[in-house]
Formats: sequence, structure tokens, C-alpha cells
Amino acid sequence: MIDIPLLKATSIISPRLTVLVNTIDSKGELVSSPYSWIYPINMNPPLIGVGVGRTKQSLKNAKRTGEFVICIVSPNFGQQAVNCEKAHKPGDRLWKKNNLHSQKSKKVNVPRIKESKAVLECKTKKVLEYNGDHVILVGEVVYAQSQETLEKVDPLLHVSGETFRAIGKAITLQRHTK
Ligand SMILES: Cc1cc2nc3c(=O)[nH]c(=O)nc-3n(C[C@H](O)[C@H](O)[C@H](O)COP(=O)(O)O)c2cc1C
Repeated sequence: MIDIPLLKATSIISPRLTVLVNTIDSKGELVSSPYSWIYPINMNPPLIGVGVGRTKQSLKNAKRTGEFVICIVSPNFGQQAVNCEKAHKPGDRLWKKNNLHSQKSKKVNVPRIKESKAVLECKTKKVLEYNGDHVILVGEVVYAQSQETLEKVDPLLHVSGETFRAIGKAITLQRHTK
């Protein structure tokens, strides 16, 4: 075992999914930014949380419009998705500059990214604040769509920094839920 500096401790809870968080900015344009602090937080109703820096545009947009869409990223468009983290202002449409495409969502006004093989359409439920540099943007999933198997979705996992991984082989373990 080696000591991990406390400011890097959260990287032990990795890899996590790489996603694009889609929101509508103050100019009415789609913003699609990469995030990987994303976690399920409730089953019924289905709630998800995204750990978002306090100053991020996605947070402001999700609060203002009450909606956002989570688009799972796959390796075949991973670099394009990661490029969308570049500093941007309302109206910049980085996703378009990186040759990604938008597609209408089913239950919310925020479009999804066409290249994504699994999406969660969310209504902003709450923003959980604590004494820190991030908050948790809580979304209630109002519609979900996905390719039928994990292999087809092929999610890109984010380890930390510039390190990413692909999914590994499936393992079946016995559960004791009864
Ligand atoms: C793979 C990846 C994962 C990231 N995960 C997060 C995250 O979970 N939380 C966060 O605040 N920023 C994260 N970032 C940084 C944001 O993408 C970046 O600050 C971006 O400019 C935010 O855009 P926005 O202001 O439109 O929300 C991540 C960047 C990359 C490339």
C-alpha cells in the first residue's frame, strides 16, 4: 500500500463513466460538457447526482432551465467529447466544432448527442450544497434510452487526469438478497 495525498483520494473511487452533460445556455444554444463525477443516488424515483464545480456553466444552465441530459460517451467519440471541456462562453457550441451532432430528446427540451448510445433525460430536482468547491446537481430521470447491451453501449471510463479505460470482461457472482 502507498499513501495517497488527500487531495487525490477521490481518484481511488474510479474509474467512473465519462458522460456529456447537455444543457441549454443563456443564448438558447446547446452546451455539451464532459463530466465523470456521476452517480446513482436513488432508485424510486430514479435520481442521479453529478459532482459539478460551483462556477460551471452546466450547473447554471440546469438550475435556470430545470433540465439536463446525460449522454454516455464511448471510445469512438471519446476525444471529441473530451475536447468539449475547453473554456467556452454561451453560444460557442464546442460540440459542433468537434463534429458531434445533436438530436431531439423525448421528454425534455434539451437535445441529446446523437453519437451517444445511452441517455438519461433529467429534470433538475435539487442542488446539494456543502462547504466545498463542488455541489451535487441532482436530476430526476424522466426518460432513459440505451442500446440493449453494455457491449453495444461500450462506455468510456475515466480513471483520472488523461487516463481512460474501456470496460473489461463480465464476471458473474452469487448474490444473497433473499
Ligand atoms: C473526462 C472529464 C471529466 C470531467 N469531470 C468533471 C466533473 O465530474 N466535474 C466537474 O466539475 N468538471 C469535470 N470536468 C471538467 C469540465 O468538463 C470543464 O470544466 C468544462 O469546461 C465545464 O463546462 P461547463 O462550464 O459548460 O459546465 C471533466 C473534464 C473531463 C475531460
